[in-house]
Amino acid sequence: MGYKFKGVFETMRSLTNILVTGGAGFIGCNFIRFLFEKVEGFNGRLINLDALTYAGNRMSLADIEAKYKGRYFFEHGDICDRVFVESLFAKYEIDTVVHFAAESHVDRSILGPEAFVKTNVMGTFTLLDVAHNAWKNNPRQDTLFHHVSTDEVFGSLGETGYFTETTPYDPRSPYSASKAASDHLAMAYNHTYGLPVTLSNCSNNYGPYQFPEKLIPLMILNMLEGKPLPVYGDGKNIRDWLYVEDHNAAVWTIMRNGKTGETYNIGGENEWENIKLLNVLIDIVCAKAVLDPAKVRGTLSYVKDRPGHDRRYAIDCSKLKRELDWKQIVSFEEGLSRTVDWYLANPQWIESIRSGEYQKWVQKNYGERG
Ligand code: NAD
Ligand code: TYD
Repeated sequence: MGYKFKGVFETMRSLTNILVTGGAGFIGCNFIRFLFEKVEGFNGRLINLDALTYAGNRMSLADIEAKYKGRYFFEHGDICDRVFVESLFAKYEIDTVVHFAAESHVDRSILGPEAFVKTNVMGTFTLLDVAHNAWKNNPRQDTLFHHVSTDEVFGSLGETGYFTETTPYDPRSPYSASKAASDHLAMAYNHTYGLPVTLSNCSNNYGPYQFPEKLIPLMILNMLEGKPLPVYGDGKNIRDWLYVEDHNAAVWTIMRNGKTGETYNIGGENEWENIKLLNVLIDIVCAKAVLDPAKVRGTLSYVKDRPGHDRRYAIDCSKLKRELDWKQIVSFEEGLSRTVDWYLANPQWIESIRSGEYQKWVQKNYGERG
């Protein structure tokens, strides 16, 4: 099982001094790990710019930091801090940005939207503007700004249909509205200033290192700890799930060969009603952790629905498959199994992210439930 890329330097892009924003978060840390450990022939430098919010954890890359000295650099800072971002462009001669940093959780965006506007809108604007200024006189034209976004910008689907790259934007939560704004800014910098931008809109990710406020890791940990499993509304909302490594392979594929000015949908082609997913997850967790599935099912607890809860997301990713020859590699069964194994094997990581600000936030907003 592996990822094949037909030679790293096939495109005219340099992809050498890569600024990874949000690399201490879930998808970003998996991306860094993926490039160093799974992409044959990759010999660039990765500069991880992360503010280490509640969702960022430097421990997620402690082994990478030790192993790739001289090729991996951690820079603690905020993407909204123009002076700092400019200094990084100069210090590392940045030729590529892959922009993961964001406030990423819908529930948090409902409780406190301001941070979402700051980081997702103003932060993205700052990065785009600094990149534009740094690269506008570049004679080599070998730069790239890849903006990582979500399928949630397209709104909510009924029982049928799929989001395509031409589906009109219709964001409904403060999170998706702020991501939609950042997508428009990224494309505007391409159209107006000629900044070489590619953009991807991906469906729900899951896998190792995901912060346990999102459905899958939250439920795994609650099952292991005998806590209630909070199902929003009727449990019949549908999401399209993709293993994080398949997402990162898609991002890298687009960075290598995607056309600038284009957007690409990335998806799992793997739709699940939340409640059906939970039933599968209960069986996997119980088998691995030797728990009684009937007892764990008894902890399923239907709770008040999320305000404005989008009913269904489903991605048509045929453009990416057709034009850039990407496909999903990890089946849902395999991906869930690997994910549960990872959470069982990493209690220290769980402890490290739970001991700080997050616990206080959960207590304040959700009481004992979280
Ligand atoms: P995450 O919340 O796990 O990580 C976000 C990271 O960004 C953290 O390390 C955090 O410290 C950092 N960060 C936040 N604000 C910052 C700031 N102002 N300056 C610098 N760093 C900052 O998020 P994730 O799930 O890894 O998502 C990464 C990206 O992928 C986001 O842009 C998100 O919108 C997008 N996305 C996520 C999913 C998903 O299912 N998780 C799906 C599609 C797209
Ligand atoms: P989430 O992981 O927050 O991702 P998103 O809202 O960005 O899709 O939620 C996935 C689905 O699971 C969504 O329909 C909301 C639901 N959900 C619950 O039912 N209970 C929970 O505790 C959480 C966090 C989510």
